[in-house]
Formats: sequence, C-alpha cells, structure tokens
Amino acid sequence: MISGKQTFACATALCAMAMAMTSASSSGQVGQTRTKQPTAHAALSETEVAARADALLQQMTPEEKAGQLSVLFALPIPQMMAANEKLVASGNLGALLFMTDPAEINRVQKIAVEKTRLHIPLLFGFDVIHGLSTIFPVPIANAASWDPDGVEKSQAVAANEARSVGLHWTFAPMIDIARDPRWGRIVEGAGEDPYLGSAMAAAQVKGFQGGHIGDTGRIIAGPKHFVGYGAALGGRDYDEVNLSDSELWNIYLPPFKAAVDAGAGNIMSAYMGLNGVPASANHWLLNDVLRKDWGFKGFVVTDNAAVTSLRTHGVASTLQDAAATALNAGVDMEMNIMGPAFTRLPAALAAGTISEQRLNEAVRRVLEMKIRMGLFDNPYVDEKAAAATLRSPAHLKAARIAAERAAVLLRNEQALLPLDRTKLSSIAVIGGLADSPRDAVGPWVFDQNKPAMSSILEGIKAKVGPKVRVDFAPGVALPDRLHPSPFAQIVGKVTRPTPESGDTAGIAQAVQLARQSDVAILVLGETQEMIGESASRSTLDLPGRQQELLDAVVATGKPVVLVLMNGRPLALKDTKAAAILDIWYPGSEAGSSTANLLFGDAVPGGKLPFSWPRNGGQVPLIYSHLASHDPANQSKRYWNEAGDPAYPFGHGLSYSTFAYSNIRVDKAERAPGVAVTVSADVTNTGKRLADEVVQLYIHQQGGKAARPVRELKGFSRVTLKPGEKRTLNFTLGDAELRYWSSATRDWALDATRFDIAVGGDSTAPFTTSFSLAQGAR
Ligand code: BGC
Repeated sequence: MISGKQTFACATALCAMAMAMTSASSSGQVGQTRTKQPTAHAALSETEVAARADALLQQMTPEEKAGQLSVLFALPIPQMMAANEKLVASGNLGALLFMTDPAEINRVQKIAVEKTRLHIPLLFGFDVIHGLSTIFPVPIANAASWDPDGVEKSQAVAANEARSVGLHWTFAPMIDIARDPRWGRIVEGAGEDPYLGSAMAAAQVKGFQGGHIGDTGRIIAGPKHFVGYGAALGGRDYDEVNLSDSELWNIYLPPFKAAVDAGAGNIMSAYMGLNGVPASANHWLLNDVLRKDWGFKGFVVTDNAAVTSLRTHGVASTLQDAAATALNAGVDMEMNIMGPAFTRLPAALAAGTISEQRLNEAVRRVLEMKIRMGLFDNPYVDEKAAAATLRSPAHLKAARIAAERAAVLLRNEQALLPLDRTKLSSIAVIGGLADSPRDAVGPWVFDQNKPAMSSILEGIKAKVGPKVRVDFAPGVALPDRLHPSPFAQIVGKVTRPTPESGDTAGIAQAVQLARQSDVAILVLGETQEMIGESASRSTLDLPGRQQELLDAVVATGKPVVLVLMNGRPLALKDTKAAAILDIWYPGSEAGSSTANLLFGDAVPGGKLPFSWPRNGGQVPLIYSHLASHDPANQSKRYWNEAGDPAYPFGHGLSYSTFAYSNIRVDKAERAPGVAVTVSADVTNTGKRLADEVVQLYIHQQGGKAARPVRELKGFSRVTLKPGEKRTLNFTLGDAELRYWSSATRDWALDATRFDIAVGGDSTAPFTTSFSLAQGAR
C-alpha cells in the first residue's frame, strides 16, 4: 500500500510554496473507524439521486455550499493537514486529493461524516494515471498498443486498486492531443491522432468507471485538460494555446467528446488560455460545447489553481472576482493547493455577481456524484482489503501483458531480434537505465517504494539463466535535469552519480564489454523526471552523453540492440544500431516484459501513436497534414533535413511479417446516411504467431475546405498464426466522414471521392475509393 508519508506530489511553483511550509510528515490516527464492506451498487435512478441531493441542498448555508465546491491537496504537511481538517470539521470542504492510506482516509472521512452538521462525506481523489500500486505502462505506451480493450482492462485494475485504498476519483485519463514532443506531457496522452485518441479516451473512462458511476471497485474518471493544453506554444508547459476552430473541432475536442459519450463523471478544465480566454473561464467551452452540445451531466473541476490564476491571466482582479468568473463560466469545483478562491462565493452571492441558482446547480452536481458513488451509505473503506488487492499476482500479470503489447519494434535488421539464448554465451547490457527499476515505472508514480519489480538487467539475467554471461556497464552517468523537477522536490530526488565532463572511462569500459560479448543491449532514453508535467525540452536528443555511448558501442561492429526508455520520440542521429525496441516506461513488470520481448517469448506488435521526427527542428511533424503546396516538394521543405519523419505514425515491426490483399469497398457510391464497408485481407506471412495492427486511412479528394493528406478512420489489432489469413471489415459512416469546415463554419459532409488505404502504418498506399453522392449535408 502507498503510505501517506511517501505519496504526494504536485508540479507547480505553488506546490513548492506549500512544501516550504514544513517538511515533516503527518501522523495518522489509525483503526478507530467503523468500516463497512463496500457493497455492489446498481445505478440509482436519476429521480432518486436528484431527490436526495435536493433534500441536502435545502439545508445548506452558502458557506457549506461553497465548501462542497473545493478540492484541496492533502499533502502530509502538519499545517496543511490541520487546516484541511478544520475545514472538514466545519462542513466546508467537498474533497481532498493525494491521500492514499486507507486508515488516514477513514480517519478524515469520519470527521466529515460524524462531526459535521449535514454528515456529507468527502470525495477522495488522486492522480491514478497508469496504475496505483501495480504500475502499467505510461499512457503513451498504452496508446501504442492500439488495443482499447486491453487499455480498458488496465484502467479497471488501476480503479480496483484505487478503490481498495478508499479513493473515489482519478484525475485521468489525460486525453490532450499532443503534436509537439518537446511538451513533457506527451507521455500522458495518446499522441497526435484524434481517432486513436478518442478510442483510448473512451476505453479509459470505461475502465475506470465500469458500467456506471458507483460500480463496485471502480472510480470516477476525470478526463483532462479541457481543452487544448497539448498545443502549448513551443511545447513549453503551461504556455498559451492558440487553435483555429477547425483544429479545435476536428483534432482537440473529439477525445473529450468520446470521453463524455463514454459516461465520464467529471471533466477537468485546463489552466492555460485558449485563444486568449482562460479555459477555466470559458463559458462557450464549458456551457455551449460541453453541456448544451454534448449533454455532459457530471461536474467540472479546474486544474490546480486555475481559478486563483485567473488574476495572472488578467481576467479577474480579485479572488472574489475570479471565483465568480469561473463559476459563471461553468466550473463546478475548484482544485487548489494553497487555499481556494471559491471560499469567496458566499460574498459573491451577497454581492449579486453569482446567482443562487448557479451555485445550487454546481453543488447539486457534486452531491449527486457522492450519492451515485454510494458514499452516503458506505463512506468508509475496509482498511484490510487493500493488502490482497494491491500488486496481486493477477494485477502484475496484467501489467506485464500490457507492457509487452505496448512495445514498438522500430527497426530489426537481419532479424537480430528475437535473441536466441541457446546460441549466446555472453551479453553486454549497457546504460544506467538498464539498472534502474525506479526510472522504468516512468512519471506519475509518486511512491519511491514502487519501482519496477525488477530492472531490465535483472529481467535479462533471469531470462537467460546461469549459462549465459551477462555483464553490465552504465557507460555514462545518467544526467540530471538542468532545472530540478518540482516533483523531485517533493517526492524525493533520485541520487544519480554526477557525470564527469570529458570522462571517457565509462564509455571505454562499455566498449570493452561490448567487444567481449556476443551482443550488446543498450538501454538509453530519459529518466523518470525528464518527462511528464513541467518536463518540456527544447531538443529531442538523447540526454547527456548517451549518443556518444551509443555511437561508440555501435562502432565496435558487434550486433547492437538499442532499447529505448522514453515517453517522447528521441532524435537518434541515424544510429546504425541493428535493432531498436521502444519499451517506453513499461511499469512494474519492466524486467520480465522486456526480457520476454528481447528473447521472443513475446512478439512486439505495438505501433507508434505519433510521427517520430529525425530531430527536434522538424517539430511539429504530423502524418495528417494538409497538402498546401506541390506534394513533390514535401520532402524538400528544409535544405538541411528531410521532410519526412524517421518513423511514420502507425509504424511498428514484428518478428513476423504481414501481407495485405483484396482491399475493397462494398459500394463505389454511397448515399448520405448509408455506411460503406471497407474490407481487407491480412495474412501472417512469417513463421511466428504475432499481432498486426490493421489501419484504415481515408483521404477526402475535394470539398469546401482542404482535408488532410490522410486520416486514420479505423484500426484493429489482430493475432494471426503463421500462414493465417483474416478478413477485416471497417465501417465508414457519416460520423467518420464529416468534419468541421472553416469554409461553412459548420459540420460538413462533402459530395466527393474518398480514397482508401489499408495497411500496417500511415504510409500504406491508397488502393481503392468510393464517392459520396450529392445531397449530403
Ligand atoms: C496537473 C493535473 C493534475 C493536478 C493534480 C496539476 O498540476 O496539471 O493534471 O491532475 O496537478 O495533481
């Protein structure tokens, strides 16, 4: 279990301020609380839920109402905890985040339930991003599995673990489209594509929430950050965002729409400004789009301090003004680390800048969520239950399978992989990340005691057994970030040896080791704190002297397998390493999953969820760009660099091979409202049972607005035996073909030709087409 002492984090300067208050930890009163076993909850009827919420609402003071609209950080800082508990006892707090110790959760819940006038329980939230105790691969890796069902299962496990410690709510999934890999939070999302992103958004919401809000062993999902955060200028975290309507509707909003359609109970509004209006003060977004257009019924929480920072944006002058502006824009609950602006709502009500109706609406949404979660009937968690749930063998197995399915084989010359352990007598494992179980779990894992079960090095050793000599050389010290991560300040810094500039002894030692070995496996990439929130970079190079190490080892002429640990594409400078396997941050089962992949007990089948640039100067580089000039010039847009990526979107090799044939449409012309079926045969032409992700792309030939050169509109991950042929069918209806047009400023379905490509990545050729008949709107 994660103890309250070790588990806390936030990424902002505000957090650092909070930390400065004190560094001691809190002491929890354990075990005094009456616990009830959670019972299975059927979905309550809307009328019942509304009636219970209304009954409470009628008794509440404006202060109690405002309190329900605040979620505060519960960092284990005595002053902070004391202040929180005072608020809880006064009945003026709705939720807490960052507590994960069931006994502590029960203790604080008891104050809310037993010591307050109206006995309203608290919601406990946490950033359960890719697992709580059993850590799954990072979200970008999950997206690389192109396996929404698998991702749903992973998040169901995460929800189960979270619920077992008493959590009710996760600030996930992050479904921001990210097209600039300099942005550190690219690791938290599904990459560049709205279609893949929407599939992953819906799958994660279902995984967290189950069939309905309050489902047994599930938690409320909070898709974030509504909307556009991933388009921060220059990839700089928290920077302003400017998006055209076309980009918003066609690219950035679809994953949120998918999450709402999947029943998300909560949405987090972003902190940055979108087209000059802070996202958390954007009435159009939070009302016209989210509520009126999409019918969202849950509650909106802001990202941390997004209300107080309305003053920074310059759209509010006082905290009261900021609170009123956010509430009026459609924010229901404020997240704040330092103390909420929403405590000013009663004053705003008295001053007439907010209405009682709007205040009640927000409170009702929060109360309804607590009722649906069953908290009024079962406010406490069974403190003993977590032990059997967290990191159970079944959960760890699920994490291993997820990591194996997420890996992407970028290159495999002369079929170097999989390695045959019966033919090897010595292996050189090189690179500090190979020996770092902590880095292998990636960002958004706050507990230092939750590294991977085994490192990559340990996994390899266990796999090959005593007959094969496995030697390790770090080569170069893992570099520190130039500016320490705010997470490191709080979670505790990983102590890394300081790299000696100019010290080539480590590289020489690694080279020597490679020379003496049959094969060299280099594990390179970025450390845990080099990616994630507040971890943007201006370049994509391998940090520190890792490229030098890579080049030196490759120069030995020995077969080199490059294993990448990363959450963003890295510029590999045309490395000649024969095989490149991207394992991302694989999570708890990093050692076992990587060893299985390297030695062929698992076959890579993941595909890139983003275009992999050759270097940072090409960014942004997306596969679904518009053809704005002679396509022949596409590759000549830079005189010093190719125009295409190092690896295209959707790319990923296998230990087997696949052939596509018979790509066809069931009708050459379709009427509006009638779906076209695209079929393709895919055959495993290799010698291994393996997975292929079959991808369908369309290109709309003409129309009132220019359309991308291709767009993903269907995919399916299939497992095929050697020689097996499978026919895949994809449906293209109005939903897949319509787009938001800047020409008409409306949704459009143009009567034109649609070219079709089906294949294993985004370079698959267009081989067939159909036309949409006139008359379409
Ligand atoms: C992040 C959110 C996160 C919140 C709570 C913020 O800094 O932007 O994504 O959910 O902190 O940890």
